[in-house]
Amino acid sequence: MFKWKEEYKTGNTLVDEQHKKLFAIGDSAYELLKNDGYLDKYDKIVDTIQELKDYTVYHFRAEEEYMLKSGFKGFFAHKVEHDDFIEKFENIDYSRIDDGQNEYILGILNFIADWITQHIIVKDQQHSHK
Ligand SMILES: [Fe+2]
Repeated sequence: MFKWKEEYKTGNTLVDEQHKKLFAIGDSAYELLKNDGYLDKYDKIVDTIQELKDYTVYHFRAEEEYMLKSGFKGFFAHKVEHDDFIEKFENIDYSRIDDGQNEYILGILNFIADWITQHIIVKDQQHSHK
């Protein structure tokens, strides 16, 4: 579903490799959505969120370190965007997962899609080509 493309490259190999991991998490969330073999996906959904959260914190930290090292002027604006993504994890209401498990997975997929289209494709291009 989420297909990595050459045009997503930022010019920083480490950042690019980490971005690919986000695509992989997105793919496994999509597989989970399509899989009708589970009667209850709750645990898998929680696992996916946890993996995504750990990845997000780890990746943003690495990206921020790189931006600081390279003296990127837009650092603070970029960090604010990262913090907004991380904040979304703080507000997760796990009790709502069972309102509609597949819809909940769709929400996760939307989150990843937003990240890719609004952040990776636009913002991450700015700090890495220097
Ligand atoms: Fe970023």
